[in-house]
Amino acid sequence: MIAIDGPAASGKSSTARAVAAALGFRQADSGALYRAATAARLRVAGAPESWTEDSVLDAARVVSVRPAAGVFEALIDGEVADAELRGAPVTAQVSRVAAMPGVRAWVNERMRECAAMGPIVVDGRDMGTVVFPGATLKVWLVASTAERARRRSAELLGRMPSEEEHVLEAAQLEARDARDSRQSQPAADAVRIDTTLLTPEEQAARIVALARQRL
Ligand code: DC
Repeated sequence: MIAIDGPAASGKSSTARAVAAALGFRQADSGALYRAATAARLRVAGAPESWTEDSVLDAARVVSVRPAAGVFEALIDGEVADAELRGAPVTAQVSRVAAMPGVRAWVNERMRECAAMGPIVVDGRDMGTVVFPGATLKVWLVASTAERARRRSAELLGRMPSEEEHVLEAAQLEARDARDSRQSQPAADAVRIDTTLLTPEEQAARIVALARQRL
């Protein structure tokens, strides 16, 4: 069990997937479950400001997790919905949903079910602190806000952002960091890796090397 946590757009999920591939593990992204619960709730009528925890948990009954090659997929109504999960409407509301204790318990239960199915790399905010405190290796990934904004924009736009787009993305990331800060803290025994100047391959290679020392 390897737990990779860190703030938004610090490269957790892509790194976790690469580490899982190198080790022959599966990756499970807890953020995708918070996003799936949010997407499922958005599909039901009602202004986000009036969402109750019960209404989110009720909507989330259509969310499931399926083991696939190298990864656990989060499904809505039995279907992969990655574009919806990553889209702006879900991103704008996901912190609200992630602040609900019952939703956190629901995600944590799904994550523990995944872990019971075999060796796994998990990623999120509180994997090493709350959900898997006994993880073999805990990593806390960080990167400068400017670099995180550049990566996120490049991913969303498929090109380098303009100066204006970059500034907007950085502001949105910082706002989300602030909203998520309660559950987003490194474990005392986490290895902190600053990825600002690292390539995705270098990030993954460092974690794989650490994992091999400990496994
Ligand atoms: O990593 P991400 O951007 O896909 O995460 C989506 C949201 O879910 C993020 O705003 C914070 C929340 N989250 C959380 O509270 N705890 C986790 N373990 C993972 C994600």
